[in-house]
Amino acid sequence: MKPDEKIMARLKPGCICMGIRLDKILKAIEEGARSFDDVARTAGIGRGDCGGRRCREKVETILRKTANRDRA
Ligand code: FES
Repeated sequence: MKPDEKIMARLKPGCICMGIRLDKILKAIEEGARSFDDVARTAGIGRGDCGGRRCREKVETILRKTANRDRA
């Protein structure tokens, strides 16, 4: 990830319910998380009032893009 993207990720919400920023989700994926449950366990997301409905789609989109990039 480029330095500018890292800075922006620190400012963007990841899991709103748990107050977790996007950078923590991206770090979990960089460190090997490959499913929403992996990311949830590592980054501490998905256990808020919405039960992961809001953050799951965001995480799964990032995981798909990461998988596509890794295959290319
Ligand atoms: S936004 Fe992640 S649990 Fe609600």
